[in-house]
Amino acid sequence: MRILLFTGKGGVGKTTAAAATALRLAARGHKTLVMSADPAHSLADALGGPPIGDRPTEVAPGLMAAQIDGLARMAQHWAGGSDWPALTAQLSAALSAGGLDPIVAEELAVLPGLDELMTLLAVGEEVAGGLYDAVVVDCAPTGQTLRLLTLPGVLDRYLERLYPTHQRMLRSLGLFGRARPGGGAASGDVRGREALALGVHRLHESLAALGRILTDPAITRVRLVLTPESSALAEARRASTALALFGYALDGVIVNRVIDDADLDFSQLPSWLATWVTAQRRGLADVTASFPDLPTRLVRHQGGEPVGVERLGQVADQLYGSGAEEIDPLAGPEQAALMKVVADGAEYKLCLALPHVQSADVTLNRVGDELAVRVEGHRRLVALPGLLSRCRIVGAVMAEGTLNVRFEPDPDRWPAELLRANASAQGPDA
Ligand SMILES: Nc1ncnc2c1ncn2[C@@H]1O[C@H](COP(=O)(O)OP(=O)(O)O)[C@@H](O)[C@H]1O
Ligand SMILES: [Mg+2]
Repeated sequence: MRILLFTGKGGVGKTTAAAATALRLAARGHKTLVMSADPAHSLADALGGPPIGDRPTEVAPGLMAAQIDGLARMAQHWAGGSDWPALTAQLSAALSAGGLDPIVAEELAVLPGLDELMTLLAVGEEVAGGLYDAVVVDCAPTGQTLRLLTLPGVLDRYLERLYPTHQRMLRSLGLFGRARPGGGAASGDVRGREALALGVHRLHESLAALGRILTDPAITRVRLVLTPESSALAEARRASTALALFGYALDGVIVNRVIDDADLDFSQLPSWLATWVTAQRRGLADVTASFPDLPTRLVRHQGGEPVGVERLGQVADQLYGSGAEEIDPLAGPEQAALMKVVADGAEYKLCLALPHVQSADVTLNRVGDELAVRVEGHRRLVALPGLLSRCRIVGAVMAEGTLNVRFEPDPDRWPAELLRANASAQGPDA
């Protein structure tokens, strides 16, 4: 099972690229599902066929498609449909009963981005269903996509904080292995809380699982779509930084709407077109320079809108070749680990891939056993591996798109025998 996510600035051709890719995958015999996660759905328009609903329907041989309706799912999810405000009240009451400050409980109950969460869970559901070889996700524009992709981590932490609360609830209700005090039948109120606690527990579990799947480069790859224009490139560069920060593997860049200038006679062109073509050439050079390690595929400006199976097939030919030259759209480059720890003499180095970033743009903070990395308005808490949690930070530097944070053993927290082993490993002269 593989998951391909297509993202980029609004209007650059994400839906077109995702639909063309999905069609090609299906044509090559992969059981494929293409899902639109952009609330402004246009997948059905791109495919040029019948309307596409919230649940997968077949749109071409071997190709299923769905346009996820996060809001509708949210309403369904909290059964009762229209009962959303009541549920919020119930949830916040349950949270404060679990020992949480009532005001905090109220805020937590109105989880922001819940429709995005539903969208993400919908993807997770299909992935878990195991019916497909490939799931192609046509994402919303970059900013929204990043919010979506950071949800598992953020909410996981969020629920982790609540965990003691709902775990305690589950335990007191006898759902965590211990018998319910008194052993009798549960009252309606208790049953409601049981269901809620179990719901939070399940949500926590499915988010954690989905987070693992989405950040596993053997399963999930992100492809950035852009046009050869400076604003689209700037957004793509920022996206690549944020994706790396949160552990998402980028495996290709698609430059769309490239004007084929091979046979153009510049002296014959109207000046606006000549200017456009020249700017595109410069833009293309900037894209290649920005992503030197990633395969960059070009799609020509098609004249009209590439809508429908046939015209999307032409786009797929440009993306993945045709005939003997054809490659499988699932193929991508080997992924280097985005984060690793290396021993460096008596020190350790935590190396975190952060492309397109200068030292001055990164802020680091140690928060207990975590390292808070803040860059361009994004913040990630990196859980320090056991070894590093017993170290203190002695320096940090950005080099060639990698943040290197230097650690040395903290004598107060480092086990004495390890400290001795370390000293002898350095030899008598150290
Ligand atoms: N290579 C291309 N040549 C011409 N028009 C294109 C090309 N790629 C996409 N389009 C058109 O541009 C518009 C936006 O494309 P779309 O794939 O919906 O972008 P996004 O999903 O990024 O918002 C659509 O009308 C689409 O048909
Ligand atoms: Mg789109």
